[in-house]
Amino acid sequence: AGPRPLAGRRVLITAGGTIERLDPVRYITNDSSGKMGFALAESARGLGADVTLVCARTDGPPPPGVRVVSAESAEEMYEAVMSRVPETDFVVKAAAVADYRPARRQSSKMKKGPEQLTLELVRNPDILQAIGDWKQAGAAEGGAGRRTPFVVGFAAETGDTERYALDKLKRKRCDLIVANDVSQAGAGFGTDTNIVSVYGDEGLVAALPLQSKRAAADRIWQLAIERASSPAAP
Ligand code: PMT
Repeated sequence: AGPRPLAGRRVLITAGGTIERLDPVRYITNDSSGKMGFALAESARGLGADVTLVCARTDGPPPPGVRVVSAESAEEMYEAVMSRVPETDFVVKAAAVADYRPARRQSSKMKKGPEQLTLELVRNPDILQAIGDWKQAGAAEGGAGRRTPFVVGFAAETGDTERYALDKLKRKRCDLIVANDVSQAGAGFGTDTNIVSVYGDEGLVAALPLQSKRAAADRIWQLAIERASSPAAP
């Protein structure tokens, strides 16, 4: 066995795409397969962590050896994550969370009606933002007696990646943000590989070329562990 720098550490990872239901048989979702989150979970487990994986809809089964919590919608994921954040050392938000959900969820199957149907959507809570705000509030109170997790966010972009990723890093108060341009071949949703750039407060930390999601996950953990244990880290 290799080194176990995450031994005794509690890690919370989100994976997959949330499902936002319209009625009992229809929903809005996205293309996330869960592979990136699974790779991060597998990697963390290999490094000795106690891993909780909060899963939305995924294409395959989660890796063995981790605690799995199902959370279908963004609201369910919000509850599952926020209730565990105070006892967590690292949070990694690889899930693709729907920004909007249907304003109304019908209790029975919607019937076919007029030629045109307009769906009204409402904003979902932003989980990563809520964690950042929670950390900030704790720091303002002096942070006594509470764990403040090291937070790694993701940013899925289709252009102008650096600008949007840095904006998300600052706004959502992440310690690191992992950006993928999901319009690039071999990167983003559904693939076994990814191409990611990792950003911190100072800007680009690492640009990782095309590689398996598992190899990228190992590098992301290496960076997170280094920074979480460095004196400069919060
Ligand atoms: O699952 P795979 O098929 O392997 O694909 C991997 C991936 C492309 C889904 C993954 O690499 C990725 O980029 N995940 C984040 C997708 C996303 O929702 O990005 P975003 O830029 O919309 O959101 C930014 C961050 O805020 C993310 O960490 C997201 O989890 C979080 N967020 C967003 C909205 C919301 N309501 N709550 C959140 O917590």
